[in-house]
Amino acid sequence: MPEFLKDIKRTHDCGALRAGDVGKRVVLYGWVASRRDHGGCVFIDLRDRGGFTQVIFEPGVSADAHTMAGELRSEFCIGVAGVVHDRGERRNPNLPTGEVELRCDHLTVFSRSDTPPFEIVDDSTANELVRLKYRALDLRRPSLQRNFLLRSQIYQTARRVLSDHRFLEIETPFLVKYTPGGARNFLVPSRLTPGTFYALAESPQLFKQLFMVAGFDRYFQIVRCFRDEDLRQDRQPEFTQIDLEMSFVVEEDVQAVVESLMAALWKDVLGLEIVTPFPRLSFAEAMALYGSDKPDLRFGLPLCNVTDVVRKHNGGNVEMLQKAIAATGPEPAVVKAWRLPAAEASKMSNAEVDKLEEFVKGLGARGLARARIGAGGTWTRAPISKTMSEAMRQDLNAAAGLQEGDLFFLQFGARKLVNTVLGGLRLHVANKLNLIPKDQWKFAWVTEFPLLERSDDGKLVASHHPFTSPMAEDLDKLESAPAEVRARAYDLVLNGNEIAGGSIRIHRADVQSRVFKAIGLTEDDAHAKFGFLLDAFRHGPPPHGGIAAGLDRLAMLLCGADSLRDVIAFPKTQKGTDLCTEAPAPVTSKQLEELHIALTHIES
Ligand code: AMO
Repeated sequence: MPEFLKDIKRTHDCGALRAGDVGKRVVLYGWVASRRDHGGCVFIDLRDRGGFTQVIFEPGVSADAHTMAGELRSEFCIGVAGVVHDRGERRNPNLPTGEVELRCDHLTVFSRSDTPPFEIVDDSTANELVRLKYRALDLRRPSLQRNFLLRSQIYQTARRVLSDHRFLEIETPFLVKYTPGGARNFLVPSRLTPGTFYALAESPQLFKQLFMVAGFDRYFQIVRCFRDEDLRQDRQPEFTQIDLEMSFVVEEDVQAVVESLMAALWKDVLGLEIVTPFPRLSFAEAMALYGSDKPDLRFGLPLCNVTDVVRKHNGGNVEMLQKAIAATGPEPAVVKAWRLPAAEASKMSNAEVDKLEEFVKGLGARGLARARIGAGGTWTRAPISKTMSEAMRQDLNAAAGLQEGDLFFLQFGARKLVNTVLGGLRLHVANKLNLIPKDQWKFAWVTEFPLLERSDDGKLVASHHPFTSPMAEDLDKLESAPAEVRARAYDLVLNGNEIAGGSIRIHRADVQSRVFKAIGLTEDDAHAKFGFLLDAFRHGPPPHGGIAAGLDRLAMLLCGADSLRDVIAFPKTQKGTDLCTEAPAPVTSKQLEELHIALTHIES
């Protein structure tokens, strides 16, 4: 007797058969997606990663197979052999294999299935937490199978493109020395040296710079990174980067490699041509126009700065504005505005506009000054305009180009908050009113980021990392006006997502010491933290720079998924747990003893 697996080998996957295969004898393996009993015949849809094929069991073809088919249930794993037939009248135009069916004469059940905890279909209504618990079943869903097929293509393309550009693929350690700054690290206790800890690498940054000192010249790695951060839709604690570093380059060289990588990805994965080079805009422009360093450029509706108008009128008799511009601090207050033109504004009721105030409060605003522009440029439904001088109102109308029917929003105070609020409002309203075209890919480089930023306690810290090179034009300001120094850093943004970030690094010891000084790091501190890199840099470091792209974010966008969880096989939940394996989990006191670790009180 011929046996499945050994003698009866799979000939096709379940998405392969077409009208041209009619008459062929074929063998399929897969899972029972559905089963129907019709007038003496049993029909099943057989599923594997290729798709679905209808299989029919008729007593006249094989009495044994037909009897066995009566026992089949959802998610049984089976093998079928038989001849391909035309479905005739019963063709299903919605299925690629819908013209044919397999008339089964041999059936084997590899394994039976309990009733699955949810139906394995794309429009599953099952709670995501349940799906994540039974992730292997969840991953059987066709949309997730497709996502991982696309994701796999990303690896292939990245390796091909970067190898063609002469990059070497080299691995770096995951268990590394803890270095302060940057993201919070996961710590791993060392058993062999009690009381000491490794950190899980948040990125290969320092190692890839060592590779440049080593003369590898062009390095890349598709690498897992670990960051103990608060999670969001676009953040996971372990995620994957396409990481690269190059010697003897300037910004444009690194950007050109990434552009060719993106062009190849869009071509290979989606069959689309994208136009390179990508447009560039400076951090200052991005913040001014969109209030964000990762602007969504699929639609316009920019912000506008009206600080000068408000200053000219000394607050225009509006107490809040008078106070805002009079306030003194490290940074002068700004007044910015956002105009929603009449055509779109007419789609928002007054109640909906009022609700926006709640939305911006969620972003940290105290309120949202707003107006609906009436005939002749009057402001209606605008408490702020009650005392406002006519002259300032007219100047604001002119500055923002206000027309009858427009909605107008004002925000004032610290620049960072004002940008967050109006940038967030721009996106929120555009989403709500469906103003964002879904079929566009708007890439852009955001450049000239500030080298340093103030941390919550007011201290200057490196915005990217302390090895990022300042722009030569701004070097003079490193001591006199450090906050104004721009970095040779660049991010690649796509449709409002940061998909890559990198910089040209410092390779000169004198510049490095000045940057350390600017962030209040003594030479001794610097040595204690990054001694291995600084030592290597004493031996002829080449000029170099690099970038890392977020592979999961790329996959999410290429797949059209809403969440990273749909493109990561075993993602973590908001609370950092893997529901499938139930990590993290307690360990025994013996294990802790071995590591010389004692637990203190744990809040439950
Ligand atoms: P950066 O920290 O900007 O740069 O990271 C590079 C890219 O990785 C992605 N990314 C993430 N994706 C998912 N979950 C996360 N928690 C997460 N954090 C970051 C983003 C981001 O643009 N060593 C530098 C690169 C360099 O300078 O060469 C670095 O890691 O898409």
